[in-house]
Amino acid sequence: MNRPRVILTARWPEPVEAQLMRRYDVTLNLDDHPFTVEELKQAMRAYDAVCPTVVDPVTAEVIQVKPSRCRILANFGVGVNHIDLEAAKSREITVTNTPGVLTDCTADLAMTLLLMTARRAGEGERLLRRGSWRGWRPTQLLGTRVSGKTLGIIGMGRIGLAMARRAAHGFGMKIRYYHPRPVDPTLLEGMAAVACESIDALLPRCDFVSLHCPGGEKNRHLIDARRIGLMPAHSYLINTARGDVVDTKALIRALKEGTIRGAGLDVYENEPRLDPELTRLENVVLLPHLGSATAETREAMGWRVLKNLDAFFGGQAPPDRVV
Ligand code: DGY
Repeated sequence: MNRPRVILTARWPEPVEAQLMRRYDVTLNLDDHPFTVEELKQAMRAYDAVCPTVVDPVTAEVIQVKPSRCRILANFGVGVNHIDLEAAKSREITVTNTPGVLTDCTADLAMTLLLMTARRAGEGERLLRRGSWRGWRPTQLLGTRVSGKTLGIIGMGRIGLAMARRAAHGFGMKIRYYHPRPVDPTLLEGMAAVACESIDALLPRCDFVSLHCPGGEKNRHLIDARRIGLMPAHSYLINTARGDVVDTKALIRALKEGTIRGAGLDVYENEPRLDPELTRLENVVLLPHLGSATAETREAMGWRVLKNLDAFFGGQAPPDRVV
């Protein structure tokens, strides 16, 4: 029997690629180049399973290509805002993702950004690297104390909760959160977390705000100039969710004018292109979408995709079906 044809749009951890190749007729992206729209369309035409990542715009145009062989889009990643789910549904293409396995590492990175921005770690490192450090001074690079402060979390799903636990248990932070649905109280035990009825109600009373909501049209510029204006002048914004959740121009203005004190960003509008103004600001820490970037997590994400493919081609419901 012919094995299903599977294509990966990026290099994956080696053990996962090897295992995939034992089970399927796999095409690897050996030079790890970003796929063009034409390559994505070609993948839809020629493969039973297409395995994209966050950088692949799997738009309606790509999905509606004819003829198409693709029956499953098995995404390597939890966020699926780069895939047109309605178009996939209408073509009866299954979409899966990789939830759970990247929760801890993404929350770790959000905490890293929070600490780095508060303690001006990026500025300190740049000072050393350019050879400008003249020694310890009582007033040099004074940051903001993190312990005991208030963290606002927008999106109290798995990653939001993991961030809340780190902040509450590790740093004694008070937690306020906004989530569009009620959160199971057992998940909040030991945190004295306060639910806010709206984002507007949350923002004015936080020292730090961390975003953990999905991207996509619904949440585009959820944090816009007006909402940034609701944040206290001493507060910081952390984004490990998706770049388009924040209006970058409004954020830059706020950082320049001191409407807020700083920001820590791992994700950007129009990734990987960065607004050049961001790179000129000292009060922002910039990372290149590293949320899930640990060897352990990236391998676990790969195994999760494999599990979804095995279930799908074995005639079972894939465990992480989105559509
Ligand atoms: C995710 O899984 O959504 C990460 O941001 C990488 O895509």
